[in-house]
Amino acid sequence: MLKVEGLTAAYGRIEVLHDLSLYVEPGEIVAIVGANGAGKTTLMKAIAGIHPVAAGTITVGGEDVTRRPAHERVTRGLALVPEGRQVFGPLSVADNLALGAYRAHGDVSADREEMEALFPILAQRRRQAAGSLSGGQQQMLAIARALMSRPRLLLLDEPSMGLAPIVTREIFEALAGRHRSAGLTVLLVEQNISAALKLASRGYVLETGRVVAEGRSEDLLTDPAIQRAYLGG
Ligand SMILES: Nc1ncnc2c1ncn2[C@@H]1O[C@H](COP(=O)(O)OP(=O)(O)O)[C@@H](O)[C@H]1O
Ligand SMILES: [Mg+2]
Repeated sequence: MLKVEGLTAAYGRIEVLHDLSLYVEPGEIVAIVGANGAGKTTLMKAIAGIHPVAAGTITVGGEDVTRRPAHERVTRGLALVPEGRQVFGPLSVADNLALGAYRAHGDVSADREEMEALFPILAQRRRQAAGSLSGGQQQMLAIARALMSRPRLLLLDEPSMGLAPIVTREIFEALAGRHRSAGLTVLLVEQNISAALKLASRGYVLETGRVVAEGRSEDLLTDPAIQRAYLGG
């Protein structure tokens, strides 16, 4: 589904991602975990096509998109839920969802109903301005809006940021449900390492722009070095 090979990215002359490689198979949930400043957001932006790639390749569904603009990657099935949600605050929940449909691909109202079933609070808040929702509800809306484009791969940048653990759990459970019922493929980056690795089947540990460990989530969760460094164990 996604293959990143030898990816290097920079801000000006300062390189922040170094020769980074990873892959996501169809139907997988994969987590990239790492501390603040590790390069998670830059990586997601590079994959989505909103940050330039200095070296390396990004392949989506076997097709090289490294030099393709962001909107073409959307039509190839990528949808990014950016860090900090970025819903359209003055617009209603329903309008935010409709905008997520991006290009009419059939019955938008049926897709909206599906999203309201996934996150029932969005049905209750349908006519309300997105900006009036709580942080957790805005994250639900941001995810639902991305799903409205019927992505083949959902890219999630720190969905748990600023949310109470119980709200994070609710959102991750919805993602897991969508994964089971519709085979949703997800690549998420998170500082919340334990929650992310519990949702994902595989993970990568990112440290100052490099992958320092990778493997099955249960192995990473019990890895002594990772426990020491990140899980306080
Ligand atoms: N707009 C920017 N200009 C310059 N440096 C940046 C910019 N955004 C991020 N960085 C730097 O790039 C590195 C990676 O940042 P980021 O990708 O946001 O990490 P994360 O999402 O893991 O917190 C950090 O050292 C950060 O300071
Ligand atoms: Mg970030």
